[in-house]
Amino acid sequence: MATFQLLFLLLVSCVVSLHHHLSPCQIVQMDVFCSDLDLRSAPVDLPHGVQTLDLSCNHVLNLTEETLAYRTRFHHLNLHSNKIHFIQPGLFKDMPDLKVLDLSKNHLNVFALSKFNVGPLTAVESLDLSSNGLYTGMSDYFLADSPSLVTLSLNSNSITKIAQNTFSGSLSLKKISLHNNVILEIEDGAFDSLNLLTELDLSKNSITCIKDFNLYNLKVLNLSKNSMEIFQSINSTRFYNLLYLDLSENKLLYFPLLPRNNVLEYLDISRNQLQSISTSESPENNTKVYLKHLKYLDISYNQLKSIPESSFCFMRSLEVLNVSNNCINSFSITTQGLLSKVRIINLSYNSLQSLTFEKNTMLSLENLFLQGNGLTTLDHNVFQGLPSIKYLQLQQNNLKICASEQKQCMPELTDQDYQHPPSCVFFSSVRNLQFLYLSDNNLLTLPANAFANTSLKLLDLSWNPGLDMEKDSLSGLEHSLVDLLLRENNISSLNTDLSSLRSLKHVDLSTNLLTSLPMWNKESSIESLNLQNNNLVTLEYSTMLTLERSLKTLYMGSNPLSCCKNLGFVHMVQHSAVDVPDIDSVTCLHDEFSEPVNIKKVTQEMCHKQSTQNYIIAVVVTLLIVMIVLALFVKRCHSKKRKHNRSFRA
Ligand SMILES: *[C@@H]1O[C@H](CO)[C@@H](O)[C@H](O)[C@H]1NC(C)=O
Ligand SMILES: *[C@@H]1O[C@H](CO)[C@@H](O)[C@H](O)[C@H]1NC(C)=O
Ligand SMILES: *[C@@H]1O[C@H](CO)[C@@H](O)[C@H](O)[C@H]1NC(C)=O
Ligand SMILES: *[C@@H]1O[C@H](CO)[C@@H](O)[C@H](O)[C@H]1NC(C)=O
Ligand SMILES: *[C@@H]1O[C@H](CO)[C@@H](O)[C@H](O)[C@H]1NC(C)=O
Ligand SMILES: *[C@@H]1O[C@H](CO)[C@@H](O)[C@H](O)[C@H]1NC(C)=O
Ligand SMILES: *[C@@H]1O[C@H](CO)[C@@H](O)[C@H](O)[C@H]1NC(C)=O
Ligand SMILES: *[C@@H]1O[C@H](CO)[C@@H](O)[C@H](O)[C@H]1NC(C)=O
Repeated sequence: MATFQLLFLLLVSCVVSLHHHLSPCQIVQMDVFCSDLDLRSAPVDLPHGVQTLDLSCNHVLNLTEETLAYRTRFHHLNLHSNKIHFIQPGLFKDMPDLKVLDLSKNHLNVFALSKFNVGPLTAVESLDLSSNGLYTGMSDYFLADSPSLVTLSLNSNSITKIAQNTFSGSLSLKKISLHNNVILEIEDGAFDSLNLLTELDLSKNSITCIKDFNLYNLKVLNLSKNSMEIFQSINSTRFYNLLYLDLSENKLLYFPLLPRNNVLEYLDISRNQLQSISTSESPENNTKVYLKHLKYLDISYNQLKSIPESSFCFMRSLEVLNVSNNCINSFSITTQGLLSKVRIINLSYNSLQSLTFEKNTMLSLENLFLQGNGLTTLDHNVFQGLPSIKYLQLQQNNLKICASEQKQCMPELTDQDYQHPPSCVFFSSVRNLQFLYLSDNNLLTLPANAFANTSLKLLDLSWNPGLDMEKDSLSGLEHSLVDLLLRENNISSLNTDLSSLRSLKHVDLSTNLLTSLPMWNKESSIESLNLQNNNLVTLEYSTMLTLERSLKTLYMGSNPLSCCKNLGFVHMVQHSAVDVPDIDSVTCLHDEFSEPVNIKKVTQEMCHKQSTQNYIIAVVVTLLIVMIVLALFVKRCHSKKRKHNRSFRA
């Protein structure tokens, strides 16, 4: 019995190895993978029932029965990146199971020139003809008889026109990609007969205008990177299924005229030439369409000067609003319920001078991006009115931070205060605030308790040269603050006690004027510390030892360290687990070397030698002094003796 089993096993392994031996391809059950093997055709020993054949990246020129080893039971044929310029007409007719056919990156334009029809693609559901140099009309030879085709890619060809009958032989199409062609014209009704079409990618073409958009079943339409000046739907009350519309990187001057009866959720009009939110030049023709389901609106990189609050009446489900990189100078939401679902507002890189959120308006706002606005004045409690705010980007403005004591003493605001708002803003008691970016604001002072009663995890105060941080400025953050960034602040000594910040893990103090390390105690849990480009000469070794217990990464380059006064640190860098990514620029100064010495090359002996020398010199000098003193003493004794002698003589 055992011998029989052994024999059987041997036989099986023999058959398997036979397969592997005969063909260079990898065979996994009924799937054969022959990619990138310099083949001109499939191996003749292909298994009979082969279902998947991957012949991609080879040198197939002619696609015939012979090149496919006369097999016909394929489900999946991958022939991309060959040099196919001829297909035997009717080749696929006898492949009743062929569902996926990838012919991308070949020379099928040559085949199309011969004006042969590829013949019926009876069962093919997915056809990839991208990158074949096909131009207008050539796709007809492949699509004329493709009744099962669902997904078609004609990306990266040279098609200039979609004719009315282009898809008349492939009426099951659901998804068509025509990205990266040179389409200038779409004939009336070209897509009309495709009742199942839900996704159409026309991005990166040369379409200038769509005036009668009427593809009711479409769910995704991508018109990004064309030259569109106008997008208008036909005036109809019919229901449109459109969910995603990408009109980014075009030349739209007016807001698109969208279908009235829509469920649009995503609209991208970024990088166009919109100057207002209106749908036409004249106020009377400015049709407002309700976008009741719109969640995402990107109108960044346009030329908008304002966005009236009323625009948002038409889109009350909005969750993400990007209006950055425009010329907006005022943004105000005063009506409750208007943008009550908005989570993200990106207003960065405008020229905002005023920003108003009335109480209880922006209840869901979590992320607010306001960088690069040159903002100088804000309602001092503007952020306290945002109950969900977590993430605030305020870099590149001109804000001042109010001292928190001021708040308690501040009388109730009068109307006059609103006309002359105080030129500072409060961050304390913005309860859910976790990430705050205040770099590059010309901040000069950071008052005590500036961030009390917040949940700050990250605080970026970099690039505020001359910033004077009060001793208690970070108090209240003991248990929350993890990241603290203080780069390029011209700080010569830190008077804020960082050791009480128990959760602090990442500290960036690079490019300052520090001459000594900030104090840290046993409780510190710093994991990464950046001290690059400061004025550090001697490092407190006890502080380094304290840090070493938690430290994982240390940046220390470009400091005038002394080699011999930091031997403890040198040892730590050379032997501990702390990673010093900029180690090549960590150098120190040594009397005997004119150039700074890399920290990796410093040895104990270098400093001992020096001290031994000093020792010898000291001994020699002492000896000399002793000898001189002795000599003097002896001399005096002698003369005294002589005197004595003399007196004796006398
Ligand atoms: C490819 O087919 C063409 C036309 O049938 C023929 O002239 C040519 O010799 C074939 N080339 C190869 C490499 O089989
Ligand atoms: C539209 O096409 C562009 C360019 O190919 C692509 O970057 C973008 O993600 C597409 N948009 C959508 C909504 O798929
Ligand atoms: C659209 O059609 C309606 C009637 O169906 C008409 O009242 C309205 O003026 C039309 N709008 C435009 C812009 O033509
Ligand atoms: C308003 O639209 C109508 C029809 O679309 C057009 O005939 C008329 O000239 C437009 N008016 C203006 C002021 O643009
Ligand atoms: C606009 O902002 C949103 C959210 O912040 C972001 O996802 C999107 O990429 C931005 N648009 C551009 C064009 O950068
Ligand atoms: C805000 O929008 C700009 C494009 O206008 C984008 O570059 C930036 O990444 C967005 N900010 C965030 C945080 O999404
Ligand atoms: C923090 O909150 C407490 C309790 O609500 C309050 O007494 C205290 O004044 C607040 N501190 C600051 C600086 O706002
Ligand atoms: C940085 O500090 C130095 C010396 O403390 C001072 O001379 C210089 O003006 C400061 N630079 C700035 C930009 O504050």
